Amino acid sequence: MTRYPEILDGLIHGSHRWLVTGAAGFIGSHLTEALLSLGQNVTGLDDLSTGHRENISAALRESGCTDGKNFTFINGSITNISVCREAVRGCEYVLHHAALASVPESMGDPVHYNNVNVSGFVNILEASHEYSVKKVVYASSSAVYGGGGA
Ligand SMILES: NC(=O)c1ccc[n+]([C@@H]2O[C@H](COP(=O)([O-])OP(=O)(O)OC[C@H]3O[C@@H](n4cnc5c(N)ncnc54)[C@H](O)[C@@H]3O)[C@@H](O)[C@H]2O)c1
Repeated sequence: MTRYPEILDGLIHGSHRWLVTGAAGFIGSHLTEALLSLGQNVTGLDDLSTGHRENISAALRESGCTDGKNFTFINGSITNISVCREAVRGCEYVLHHAALASVPESMGDPVHYNNVNVSGFVNILEASHEYSVKKVVYASSSAVYGGGGA
């Protein structure tokens, strides 16, 4: 973070509302922790299909946000546009990390993976557009040649 002093300075001096999808997952929970540590207001959206509540507890604990004052958790799926609207409403920034990440499992159930990873992503974009979110950032896959063992 020290490589981006202007961004860090902006976060320290102003609180913004963020939606982190996949907040109970690996990347989402660490982003949640970092944002809460900087005094930001975070909504976490996750259906807990592969993520863990313990990741969220750890993010709250490590960021010192033990009263949960700046954090709201929504247990729901990005495949439901109503859930996406509820989560996005009032947020300025969306960090989209909700996904099914197992390449081998996607081969066995491509329709479900497409529903979550593609249609769910479109739902998040649609809701973000409706509520005039300033920026949506999402994670792509690991690498062009990677992913076989993911
Ligand atoms: N971990 C890495 O090294 C890495 C590297 C590059 C890209 N990525 C990408 O970043 C994203 C997140 O990766 P991760 O490692 O944090 O994955 P993760 O599996 O730890 O987290 C994904 C989260 O999404 C949630 N989720 C799944 N389906 C959902 C749904 N329908 N609605 C709401 N939540 C849902 C899961 O419960 C989980 O908590 C993925 O798209 C992954 O491909 C990860």
